[in-house]
Amino acid sequence: MSRYFRARITENLPLNSSHNIISLANLEDMEEPLPGQFFMVQINQGYDPLLKRPFSIYRKTAEGFELLFRIKGKGTALLKGMKEGAVIDVIGPLGNSYPLPSESQFPVIIAGGIGIASVHPLVERLSGKAYVIYGAKIGDELFMREDLEKIAGNLLLCTDDGSCGQKGTVIDVITGLRSRLREMREVIIYSCGPAAMVREVTMFAAEHAIKAYVSLEEHMACGIGACLGCVVKTRKGYRRVCREGPVFDAADIIWREDPR
Ligand code: FES
Repeated sequence: MSRYFRARITENLPLNSSHNIISLANLEDMEEPLPGQFFMVQINQGYDPLLKRPFSIYRKTAEGFELLFRIKGKGTALLKGMKEGAVIDVIGPLGNSYPLPSESQFPVIIAGGIGIASVHPLVERLSGKAYVIYGAKIGDELFMREDLEKIAGNLLLCTDDGSCGQKGTVIDVITGLRSRLREMREVIIYSCGPAAMVREVTMFAAEHAIKAYVSLEEHMACGIGACLGCVVKTRKGYRRVCREGPVFDAADIIWREDPR
């Protein structure tokens, strides 16, 4: 099955002033995406903007899929303005996926802001069997809460300003859960969000000897491993986020100011 296909926009809904959720129906066969994989989307058919853009696959639907995205440049601004019926070119699903927990592992899923798009399929797959910690600066940036409440089972929301859920960060929430987690069988963390947050999650996991997998959101140009524009330093050498990632064993990542 080809990884190149076309999809038709069936809905393009604003979630707030800078984020949308877009629903698409694929016009050709599409490989079944795994939790954590992404698509490269050609925003328009001309040369401006020239590059495709990567988007986590928020949800697989009966007719196609949904993407949740932040409007932060020309490409995503164009996508925001696209209407129902428009057809776009898509490549994917691309990249690796979150390894599923074993029978003996208790999953804790930690997302920040738009990072929920990457972990949402995992929340769906684990249907109520995980703790889901979801944080943002303000309540307006905690997306699709009603949907999450239905599928997450144990959903813990937090915001920096306390406007929704607990006041504080996802690290504050998981730190508060430490004693409960200690009583559980082996814990495994999955996380996606802003780099600073993911780095803190990685540090928390290392400190408490918890296995963790994180999805990195590097800038991507080609998305298929050809341009080397997305490499990150790991303990196994340089790795391409689009090919060897976007999901990495957190213990392998060498952060820019890694103290170790
Ligand atoms: Fe080109 Fe990853 S985006 S190699």
